[in-house]
Amino acid sequence: MSNFPKGFLIGAATAAHQVEGNNKNCDFWAMEQAGGLMFKEPSLDAVDHYNRYKEDVDLMAAAGLNAYRFSIEWARIEPQKGVFDAKEIKHYREVIEYCRSKGVEPMVTMHHFTSPKWLIEDGGWESEKTPDAFASYCAYVAKELGDVMEFVCTINEANMGLQITKIMKERTVDVQVGLSDSMGDGEAVMRDYMSKLSGVFSGINPREIHTFLSPRTERGDQLIFEAHEKARDAMKAVCPNLKVGITLSLYNYQSIEGGEENARQAQEEDFLHYLPYLQKDDFFGLQNYSRKIYGKDGIVPVKEGTEVTQMGYEYYPEALQGVIRQVHEHLKLPIYVTENGIATSDDSRRVEFIKRALAGVEACIADGIPVKGYMHWSLLDNFEWMLGYSMTFGLIAVDRTTQTRHPKESLKYLGKFS
Ligand code: BGC
Repeated sequence: MSNFPKGFLIGAATAAHQVEGNNKNCDFWAMEQAGGLMFKEPSLDAVDHYNRYKEDVDLMAAAGLNAYRFSIEWARIEPQKGVFDAKEIKHYREVIEYCRSKGVEPMVTMHHFTSPKWLIEDGGWESEKTPDAFASYCAYVAKELGDVMEFVCTINEANMGLQITKIMKERTVDVQVGLSDSMGDGEAVMRDYMSKLSGVFSGINPREIHTFLSPRTERGDQLIFEAHEKARDAMKAVCPNLKVGITLSLYNYQSIEGGEENARQAQEEDFLHYLPYLQKDDFFGLQNYSRKIYGKDGIVPVKEGTEVTQMGYEYYPEALQGVIRQVHEHLKLPIYVTENGIATSDDSRRVEFIKRALAGVEACIADGIPVKGYMHWSLLDNFEWMLGYSMTFGLIAVDRTTQTRHPKESLKYLGKFS
């Protein structure tokens, strides 16, 4: 069934905090535990992937998948600034080695949204110190695990902060998550929110809390890419054989008449202005879930009656092909699709989505675009951040009362492409 070239990676992706469970030293855990901070529920044991990774890798391998993208949790490796935990290194070494023993190529992400709590207390993702802190953690991991790693994504969806700022502006919510000086309506709610938030991170004003998913300033945006470059160079200095890239969240930017400039502008903000930071990378990690169509007044809303996913995105698997072409026009690096998928309770829609998305990838390859792999989001139904466990993105369902795995048809279907 597969028309992909030999060596093409077909796999699935996860992120540590969304699947491992009990990631207690990170910023998200702290915010979830505080309650009332926009989290539908706390992550708790998640899907216990930390203890059950072998079963999960076995399921992938049995279905025919040959790659697995997962993240190493910074807060586990460096629970306190400058203090590294050898036990956790050992854990991730075992995960990587287990993948390899099953013929599954590991692709490791160094940062997927969560950060150690101490980093946030130290200024977080708007601090001039953070690029060095991140590079030091990455260099440590390269020194300890570089012999078993090959593909490394430094930062997941490094453009997320700016996208969040934009979404909030579009929804006319104050960009400091409602931490406006003139709170107006809902003042009591906001006061409560702020007092909870200030209790989470010691010694900082809620306005100075900059997690990875906080809205970004222009300087904060640059800092993230400086962190990427420093981490990439530090890891490659220790281990020159590593292939290092970054991942960005991109839409397929389309326009109707009169909206061309708006679409171009959106692509500029989400992608083009980052190009100078990517020139020395070994690959580009492309993440896509849908398209955005622009008219002369901005985004054109999804038409009534159009199929949407649980997340409310338009069901449009062809977006992947479109965005791969848009990326390749400006960046000639090998492309790995590091995330693509849908949240749905109807797995037959996921099978169809994979079929159409992969047909698009094949068409791109046929046109000479160097797409080298496809990682579906996600391996398991998991913790979808603020939305808790309500979104089902997985190729495998999990009964969280017993942590029993139930592979879906889509897992088997995806495996046929390898
Ligand atoms: C993120 C994942 C998230 C997924 C689905 C991506 O933006 O990298 O962590 O679960 O989208 O919303």
